[in-house]
Amino acid sequence: MSSYPVLHLRQEQRPYEHRAFSPDVVGKLVAAGYPVHVERSSTDPSYERIFKDQEYSDAGAKLVDTHTWTDADKGTLILGLKELPEEDFPLKNDHIQFSHCYKDQGGWEKVLGRFPRGGSTLYDLEFLVDEQGRRVSAFGYHAGFAGAALALKVWAWQLTHPASEPLPSVENFTSGRGYYLNEEELVQQIREDVAAGEKVAGRKPHAMILGALGRCGRGAADMFKRAGLTDENLTKWDLNETKDKQGPYKEIVDSDIFLNAIYLSDPIPPFVNQETLSSPDRKLTVVCDVSCDTSNPHNPIPIYNTLTTFTKPTLPVKVPSSELPLSVIAIDHLPSMMPREASDAFSQGLLESLLTLKDRDSAPVWKRAEDLFKKHVSRLPPGLQKKEV
Ligand SMILES: NC(=O)c1ccc[n+]([C@@H]2O[C@H](COP(=O)([O-])OP(=O)(O)OC[C@H]3O[C@@H](n4cnc5c(N)ncnc54)[C@H](O)[C@@H]3O)[C@@H](O)[C@H]2O)c1
Repeated sequence: MSSYPVLHLRQEQRPYEHRAFSPDVVGKLVAAGYPVHVERSSTDPSYERIFKDQEYSDAGAKLVDTHTWTDADKGTLILGLKELPEEDFPLKNDHIQFSHCYKDQGGWEKVLGRFPRGGSTLYDLEFLVDEQGRRVSAFGYHAGFAGAALALKVWAWQLTHPASEPLPSVENFTSGRGYYLNEEELVQQIREDVAAGEKVAGRKPHAMILGALGRCGRGAADMFKRAGLTDENLTKWDLNETKDKQGPYKEIVDSDIFLNAIYLSDPIPPFVNQETLSSPDRKLTVVCDVSCDTSNPHNPIPIYNTLTTFTKPTLPVKVPSSELPLSVIAIDHLPSMMPREASDAFSQGLLESLLTLKDRDSAPVWKRAEDLFKKHVSRLPPGLQKKEV
């Protein structure tokens, strides 16, 4: 290959998705020689990008009309984060994005089939890995950070509001936006929440993280620390602490907040269940399940079964013969609560790989992603594997 393909950054088409490849990274691609076209942001508040159009044009990108990626010249590489809207036309250009069609998700054949039918390749961001098989970039850190922030907010809310009043929509705390403009805005607000809760409880909360050494776990620990929790207020467990003893764990119900951030790969006994929750000594009032393995038969938090949202962030869990509340947060797109930093960090993590796109036929990271794409295409019904004429 070795010529600089045009990169076309599309406006996301999923509501409440404000993240995007950052202007900083776009500027570095332009400086390296890549022509970058950026679709103007939608002006609909539910879709509006966190970055201003001007930030992209200042970085050297050419602004183009919204949703024009379908008309891009052949050879243009389309960049986006989330999956495309459900449509049927074959895709003639290569795409870089999360597509969620490699694990037999409902409708995967139709989603994946659009690429071979149009003669194009999907480079799925979830499976972009280095030579050790580690993800090149991921949103986990900010998922943990945002999850810990919400958990602290719920802890303080429970102490300062009647039990019948659940935490309202995140919009109530973000001037109607539904997301925080930046990390500082979030951290400042959570520090105030914790101070209000501390006034009632007479102490800071104790939080426990499971999966503390992973991306989400590290983000959660940083948020808890930024909110003023000390090492004494924080229990951090990872495989070392769970390998020799099976759940459920008493340490979880002895904490005010439990944040689960493990990567579930094998069946394991539950971390917490109705029996441990029934302990008369329970302190636990907030569970933030960042991992959200809700529909997995081996879900280690089998005390709830529905995901929650930024609009309705918590779910009450009834514990028989206990007056103490218990709220579960299980939002599967937590990084969207802090789109600026999440986008910056994710884009920065990808930069080195993006700079090799002109040689993507041979650059190992893209070659691996292409081989994986081909492997999954070979699982499609024969009629969907070939380019349509
Ligand atoms: N809710 C969201 O918005 C959101 C966003 C990103 C990721 N996630 C999910 O969060 C989970 C974690 O993602 P990650 O990127 O941090 O993964 P990761 O692989 O970086 O970290 C997972 C950690 O869990 C630990 N772990 C695994 N099994 C354990 C066990 N039985 N006991 C103790 N520790 C254990 C691992 O050692 C590792 O340190 C994944 O399921 C991911 O899909 C959710």
